[in-house]
Parts: sequence; structure tokens; C-alpha cells
Amino acid sequence: MGEPLKLGSRVPLKVDDIAAGGEAVGRVDNFVIFVPQGAPGDELEVEVIELRKNYGRAHISKIIKPSIRRVQPPCPVYHQCGGCQLQHIDYDAQLFYKTKIVKDSIQHLTDLGTIKVHPCRRLDDPWNYRNKVQAVVAAKPYLHPKDTEKGRISHVVGLYAQGTHRVIKIDECLIQDTLNNKILQASREAMERLQWPVYNEKDGSGLVRYLVTRASYSTREALLVVVAAQPRLPQVQEFLNHVKRRVPQLKGVLLNLNPHQTNVVLGNRTQVLWGKDHLIEDLLGLKFQISPTSFFQVNTRGLLMMYDVLEHYCDLRGKDTAVDLYCGVGSLSLLMAKRAKRVLGVDISLDAIEDAVVNSDLNGFKNTDFLAGASEKVLPQLYRQGQRFQLALLDPPRKGCDGEVLQVLARMRIPRVVYVSCNPSSLARDLEILTGLGYQVHEIQPLDMFPQTYHVECVARLSLVGDGKSR
Ligand SMILES: C[S@@+](CC[C@H](N)C(=O)[O-])C[C@H]1O[C@@H](n2cnc3c(N)ncnc32)[C@H](O)[C@@H]1O
Repeated sequence: MGEPLKLGSRVPLKVDDIAAGGEAVGRVDNFVIFVPQGAPGDELEVEVIELRKNYGRAHISKIIKPSIRRVQPPCPVYHQCGGCQLQHIDYDAQLFYKTKIVKDSIQHLTDLGTIKVHPCRRLDDPWNYRNKVQAVVAAKPYLHPKDTEKGRISHVVGLYAQGTHRVIKIDECLIQDTLNNKILQASREAMERLQWPVYNEKDGSGLVRYLVTRASYSTREALLVVVAAQPRLPQVQEFLNHVKRRVPQLKGVLLNLNPHQTNVVLGNRTQVLWGKDHLIEDLLGLKFQISPTSFFQVNTRGLLMMYDVLEHYCDLRGKDTAVDLYCGVGSLSLLMAKRAKRVLGVDISLDAIEDAVVNSDLNGFKNTDFLAGASEKVLPQLYRQGQRFQLALLDPPRKGCDGEVLQVLARMRIPRVVYVSCNPSSLARDLEILTGLGYQVHEIQPLDMFPQTYHVECVARLSLVGDGKSR
């Protein structure tokens, strides 16, 4: 036993794991210490910055012996930005630890024993995968170095450093679609050339606040939304000419008006300044109409990887009916509609349901229905109406499913359940509940939808077994 740990203590630490939030984990006399940007196998000297009853947190003060899994993070602002947490670890190790995080969640948070967890599926290319970016526009608080004219502002486009409102300038985000990066750069140049005033969040003065861009993976077309506090952009034609010339794949520019002093990026009114207001994404013969402001899976290549797993796990035959709870814009409902007799999608967001209907019509499906409402309210109603399904697909938000949804699934005796989750701990909790209600978990497939970050997506396959007396 060494000296008791104190804030500011500098201690040697050997890193042996990665925790669910992406921080490295080591132990000093069995006391757990979390270290951002540590790598398993590192021998470090760390400085303790937080002490709680059961754990502490420390910063790396010196790398004594680097792990063999450690790599040079390619992003120049990796250490400041906070958007990625695992760039300093090689990709195979990222996948290994994501698989382990899923296994650990099942083992530590449930009494389910061993469940078959497959190795996390890799994304073909773990870079440039995000199809959407919301970037902040800021102004450097000093004069443009090359400019003698007083008051000229130098524009910065970037992201907030995690948990702060400090803008990190980003010239090229390595997990963004390259088209989005080009549009942001071109917009920054044009804004600076035209000296568009920048919004000041402290007093609500100024004009431009954010740039939102979205690129289609299949068509290689993109859209830009300028979020501004006022409805008129000066010399807007010059701005449009510049960005269109610099990025020919840009097919539409929109203005979103957000005069409110809040952290919410988008206001309620959006108008087209030029070109289209939506993109088409064409995936495995399914077309999706996507506006830059609507929800769509941010990793399109990852969605294709998920489709591959879902086709196997859902295993739909022509006569099956399926319910897609938390269906969003229907990207998974339509995949199922190709093989099922009928698919019913349910989502709490009316906008998402409207998009799902448009997407279904765009593909000419006649076997889909969509209902706006909370799954925990709608599913019991469907049960009372006597509706029956052979498959339930669940894709809830991070907090997982409402308990009522799980209870009613079992009461309806839906024989097969496929559960898509972006949070291994709420997944573990819900799988344990479903097991208590008579389901068996057959397998879990983790998917690396978000390389370089700690996020891991999972798809679990369950079926109803036993006589249901345990209910
Ligand atoms: C992870 S997303 C699922 C996205 C969807 N599978 C898709 O591909 O578009 C979670 C969805 O759950 C919806 N949601 C959140 N709470 C809900 C609830 N209580 N009942 C139904 N839907 C809900 C959100 O609106 C969101 O669309």
C-alpha cells in the first residue's frame, strides 16, 4: 500500500481496460482510476484530478511505456475536440474493446450468464463515415492578421470542445464525409469574404450561428443549411455562387431562422435559398427522402452493415407480420416490408412518422402502416384490439424500452424479437427483463457504427420459449 491518493497526486498506473465511456481503466492498490486517452497496456504516470468513494479520475502526465495498441491520432485537434475518444488506439483494438464492453455489460449488470456475443463487426473504412455535421460558426476575437482594415472578422467553423462552449476550429473532421468538410470550408471562405456578422451567444447580437450539412452516400449529393438569427443574409447570391462553384455536388442551400438565445441548433422556420430541400439515399434498392434537418442514421455504410444482420435475425417469410417500435423515419421498417406481409411502425415523433409515410410511398409499399405515439401507449392498444405479430423490432433511444412495452410484448406472445440498441447497459437490463418474461436471448451482434468513438451499436436476437408461466 502506498500513500493514500489525494487530488493532485502523481502516481504510476498500468492501464488494463477501456470502460463503456471510452476512458482507459487502471488500478492503484485496487482503487479504480479512469484515464481519458489512455490505452490498455500503457504504463503511465497520472495526475489525480477527481476522487470519489469508489473511483477516481486522472490525466496522463507522462507516458512511461506506451502500449503496443497505441497509435498516433491522425486528427490534429483530437486532444482538444472530444468528439472522438479512441483515435489513439489501433482499429483492431477498438473492436476488441467494444466487444468486451458488450460482454461486460451482460455479465456485470445481469444474471443472464453467458450469452453468445459475436466479435464487433468492423466498418470497411473506419473514417469519413458521418453523413451529417452541425458545425458552430464563431469569430476570432482579434483582427485578421493580414488585414489592416479595423474591425474585420476572421471566421472559424468548428465544434464545441466537449462539455464547453469553446469552439475548436476544425478544417477537416476525419470522421465526416469529405463532402461535408468541403462544404464547411467553402462556406467559411465565403462568410469571411463577405464579412457576415457572427452570432454572439452572450447578447444575442450578430447573424450566423451554425452550418448544418448532409451528404448522400449513394448519390454523392449534399445540402447545406445556414442557421442564422435574422431572416436576411447580406449578398446571399455571392455566397451561393462561391459555395456552388467550390463544391459542385452541393444541390441545395437552405436558411434556418433561429433567433432564440438557446443551445438548440435549429429554429422552426426553414426556407430554400437555392436548389433542392431534400436528398435521396438509395440503399439496397430502398429509397429514402432525407431533409438536412430530419433524423436519419448518421452512418450510412453502418446502416448497410446493420441491414445485413437484420435480414438474418428478422428472418421474415412472406406471411409474417411485424411491428417496428421506435421506427423513426422507417429505415428498418422498409427493410422488413420487403419480406413481410405487413409492417406497422410506431414512433413518438410525428415528423418522423410523416417521413416514414413519404419513404414508404416513394418505394411503392402497400403493406406498411405508421402510427405516431409512444410505444408504451400504442402497443397495449394494439393488444386490446387483438392485433398479432410474428416479429417485434425494437430500436429505442439510449435509455432503452419502457417496461410496459416489454410486458405487453410478452403478453401478446410475439414469438420473435430483434432488439437494436445503442447502449449496452440499457440493452442488458431489457434483455434480463425479457428473459424473465419467457424470452431466450440467442445471440448479440455488436456493430461498429461509430469508429474512433466509444459508441457501439448492438443487435440482439430473441425468441419466446417455455410456457410463459414465469410471467
Ligand atoms: C434510435 S432511434 C430509432 C430510429 C429508427 N429505427 C430509424 O432508423 O429511423 C429512436 C427513435 O425512438 C423514438 N422514440 C423515443 N421515445 C419513444 C417512445 N416512447 N415511443 C416511441 N418512439 C419513441 C424517437 O423519436 C426515435 O425516432
